[in-house]
Amino acid sequence: MVPLVLGIETSCDETGIGIVRDGVLLADAVASSVDQHARFGGVVPEVASRAHLEAMVPTVQRALATAGVALRDLDAVAVTSGPGLAGALLVGVAAAKAYALALDVPLYGVNHLAAHVAVDVLEHGPLPEPAIALLVSGGHSSLLLVEDVTRTLQPLGQTVDDAAGEAFDKVARLLGLGFPGGPAVDRQARDGDPAAIAFPRSMLADPSYDVSFSGLKTAVARWLEKHEGQVPVADVCASFQEAVVDVLTAKAVRACRDHGIDHLLVGGGVAANSRLRALAEERCAQAGIRLRVPRPGQCTDNGAMVAALGDRLVAAGIAPSPLDLPADSAMPVELVVA
Ligand code: KG4
Ligand code: ZN
Repeated sequence: MVPLVLGIETSCDETGIGIVRDGVLLADAVASSVDQHARFGGVVPEVASRAHLEAMVPTVQRALATAGVALRDLDAVAVTSGPGLAGALLVGVAAAKAYALALDVPLYGVNHLAAHVAVDVLEHGPLPEPAIALLVSGGHSSLLLVEDVTRTLQPLGQTVDDAAGEAFDKVARLLGLGFPGGPAVDRQARDGDPAAIAFPRSMLADPSYDVSFSGLKTAVARWLEKHEGQVPVADVCASFQEAVVDVLTAKAVRACRDHGIDHLLVGGGVAANSRLRALAEERCAQAGIRLRVPRPGQCTDNGAMVAALGDRLVAAGIAPSPLDLPADSAMPVELVVA
């Protein structure tokens, strides 16, 4: 019998429940509390935790109904145990323990970043390993070397200040575009000129694989102050977005070249960005690198990614986590299973 794996994701503001069997996605139910955070301009941890608690059981039930399976059919439970918001993670980890204990099935506490990488198998089949992964979201911006997603991810570089998605959210806020800002900036940028304003490409020339977006955000703020009252929103969005994706794609392609690796995987919420997808496609084609990016709905946080990784872990015979598994808000990326 091929194992049926439940995945639970609660590291931020999405309660995600996925069900996967042998690399096939059977259900992906998401309840988002994003509307409750909008007026604060960012995710409020306490509000997110409470929303997870309320959404957990109904979302699990919705996923089971979609997959046409019952709780007793599950063979393993995987849950994001870090990194993320401590209180939010705790709700998912507690629920996963309860399900695993009640059903007497193994529990896997998994790394959120590894799950963002693993989700791609659902759409594009087995991961090409080794691969370089560029993970960009509201909480992280990392370049990783992936030799075996079930064992460890090797960090090559990360942001030294703001995450890429955080920069999108902050710039959107400066422009009064609402929260989350990424999709709004992406939409506005379509009608703008990416070369209209020469925003800085921080750390582009730096030999490390690290990135930095705080200076860019400040440059946008200064520009807006200076041009108050006559701001071409579409041009600001397009020029800011171009600066972000220029640096990200340049560093990702360089990481592939330096390591002699011809597969690049892009994931995380910012991978939903249309310009990042287009420029990555263009630069990878030029460099002879094969690009894999999940469809936008699977780039943002969801339960399918956790179930997809759980499914790989079970198949690889990786030992499960103990039932006293903690939620680890600072879980290191090298650790795939806690
Ligand atoms: O992966 P994710 O859903 O949650 C985290 O783990 O953070 O990523 C959310 C982030 C937010 O900052 C959001 O603004 C950004 O991803 N985002 C985008 C787009 N869609 C979502 N950023 C740029 N362009 C988009 N189309
Ligand atoms: Zn994420």
